Amino acid sequence: MAAAAAACRLLRLAPRRLRNPRHSLFRTPLALSSGWRRYCAAAATPTGDAVGEFRRRIRVAEVKGGEDQGAAWVGKELTVRGWVRTCRAQRTVTFVEVNDGSCLSNMQCVLTPETEGYGQIDSINTGASVLVEGVVASSQGVKQKVELKVSKIIVIGESDPTSFPIQKKRASREFLRTVAHLRPRTNTFGAVARVRNALAYATHKFFQDSGFIWVSSPIITASDCEGAGEQFYVTTLLSNSAEGGCLVNSIPSKDGRVDWSQDFFCKPAFLTVSGQLNGETYASALSDIYTFGPTFRAENSNTSRHLAEFWMIEPELAFADLNDDMACASAYLQYVVKYILENCKEDMDFFDTWVEKGIIDRLNNVAEKNFVQMSYSDAIKLLIGSNKKFEFPVKWGLDLQSEHERYITEVAFGGSPVIIRDYPKEIKAFYMRQNDDGKTVAAMDLLVPRVGELIGGSQREERLDYLEARLDESNLNKDSYWWYLDLRRYGSVPHAGFGLGFERLVQFATGIDNIRDAIPFPRVPGSAEF
Ligand code: 4AD
Ligand code: MG
Repeated sequence: MAAAAAACRLLRLAPRRLRNPRHSLFRTPLALSSGWRRYCAAAATPTGDAVGEFRRRIRVAEVKGGEDQGAAWVGKELTVRGWVRTCRAQRTVTFVEVNDGSCLSNMQCVLTPETEGYGQIDSINTGASVLVEGVVASSQGVKQKVELKVSKIIVIGESDPTSFPIQKKRASREFLRTVAHLRPRTNTFGAVARVRNALAYATHKFFQDSGFIWVSSPIITASDCEGAGEQFYVTTLLSNSAEGGCLVNSIPSKDGRVDWSQDFFCKPAFLTVSGQLNGETYASALSDIYTFGPTFRAENSNTSRHLAEFWMIEPELAFADLNDDMACASAYLQYVVKYILENCKEDMDFFDTWVEKGIIDRLNNVAEKNFVQMSYSDAIKLLIGSNKKFEFPVKWGLDLQSEHERYITEVAFGGSPVIIRDYPKEIKAFYMRQNDDGKTVAAMDLLVPRVGELIGGSQREERLDYLEARLDESNLNKDSYWWYLDLRRYGSVPHAGFGLGFERLVQFATGIDNIRDAIPFPRVPGSAEF
């Protein structure tokens, strides 16, 4: 036993050379001499090398991203791997701009005929992937503090310059949507991807630091949270496809209708429009939770603010009312905005110059100033009093349209986010808590300039009898919400939450006008390419 323990200790401490069977200290003469034993031993202890240590590659952001823009690296050796943005050959030197996606800045690489691999110069085209090795030097250029004097270049993957779709000239965002697999190689889409990532990180950080638990709500559901009937079906009834497509009369039916009892889940199932109802169950046990996942809406809206697949962040706060909900939404939005201003400076400067002039000032204002709140009734008075001609009518009881929301935040409040609360119950979802006036519910929408509604939330109806009455009024089947109603039967508490459309946040934070450019692969009516 003692010997075995010592052997184990040795194995754990032994360098790789000792663990390699060829150097093994533990081969016994018996195992070597007997063929049977040798076979057995090989089967019991498979050979193979230990997985190597994870060594982080140096990325351009680590070299050029600091305050000194890389000055501390001068004289040091560096290897960069990335994709060629441009290649400019001059009489004695060739400048190759290499981008590895870690930041907006390229590494300017200076090649001379002495550079090893210089013979491949004809393959160093826009889009090609390369490895460049050299020494960092101060740069004469105005655009960068440092550059790489290249001693060796290897073309890893060539790129045919006659067919590479993204040429140097500025391509329109509409065109780039048709090459969404290559568009992250452009400045704009690289920057959007990095800021989107930072917003996701900041989201988790805000909620985690505030004591919220992240909950994975299901993507497949049998209930319609928003009650708007904008769901995609999930079914295997169509999967038994005959050649040329599924035959309509092979779909099981009963009394002229689809027989869902024969479907995978034995009932109609959908892609979720919101994780809220499931989120409420966990908030009713863990107090404060949030979900962050994809949601789906089959609304046929071809607008710059709607996607069929988008990501939603849905916090749910137990022992909380609408005021707590609004306070949480404001603090969260201010936190993530501050986070990107502090941590994505280079990309934000890019957006300020090329996408929306003044966006940094606008976001600084959002991060610093208190948000305004007003009731729906006051918002209606404000819109009527504005004497502005709107396309859609303004009248108490009608929903606010995007043009109204934008007027309120952009014109009436000069670009500040505005929260509208206490909407008529008829235009809001069944789960919202009825106010004492009997006409309105404790709902809130947070509106921001350019985007309109960024957040929709409410205090939830925690009273069983009120909730059942609302389900009836909304023609929803109470039986299928039995588990949701149970939360009101067993230890019900006042609670509230909201949903923020993540791509609308990306739009708001980058100035990108169209939501299709705020998500890597947009899903919209008529298009699910890539
Ligand atoms: O206002 P909505 O429909 O609210 C809910 O789904 C609630 N269950 C949220 C909750 O209280 N937990 O959607 C919330 C947000 C909207 O404010 C908007 O930002 C975004 O989701 N959104 C969309 N984003 C992109 N494309 C669409 N089709 C969207 N529909 C809603
Ligand atoms: Mg809404």
